[in-house]
Amino acid sequence: MNRRTTRTTRIASLAAIALAGSLALTGCNGDSADKSANAKTTEAADAKPQLAVTGAFIPEPAMDDMAGGFLTVKNSSTVADRLTSVTATGFAGKAEIHETKGGKMQQVKSFDIPANGTLDLKRGGNHIMFLEVKKKPKKGDSIPVELHFEKAGTVKVDMPVEAATHNPQQHH
Ligand code: CU
Repeated sequence: MNRRTTRTTRIASLAAIALAGSLALTGCNGDSADKSANAKTTEAADAKPQLAVTGAFIPEPAMDDMAGGFLTVKNSSTVADRLTSVTATGFAGKAEIHETKGGKMQQVKSFDIPANGTLDLKRGGNHIMFLEVKKKPKKGDSIPVELHFEKAGTVKVDMPVEAATHNPQQHH
């Protein structure tokens, strides 16, 4: 075990010396080798997360110009992502993402979606906030919404409008 480790270390350092030598001797080759190594790293970083949006809904709002939106984003990949913004042109003049802390909600810049993790927007917690709502939505309506993710890009979802008391958590 120890001998092998020592041997590997020695080989690695020999390789490092050889690489340094080649860099010194042929600047161009060394450079291109460097670039391809970088390209590989970039490729891994650019890998798209696999996102699935489920359980989206908008409860019938109490107010005329404001509505909340809830959904779940499941990431079934090893690449983390972020929900950075939401748009719902035609429905709301503005859409924000909010967190709820100590019973008060406040706007945030993004929500993390961890690798192989889930982002849960639900009542009393993180949510989408539609502002300057043009026409108060009613149960049965379907609102086209665009979710903008840092890496996955734009994902379109139709968010059904449910009764004000609708709570998917209660079904479990
Ligand atoms: Cu809010």
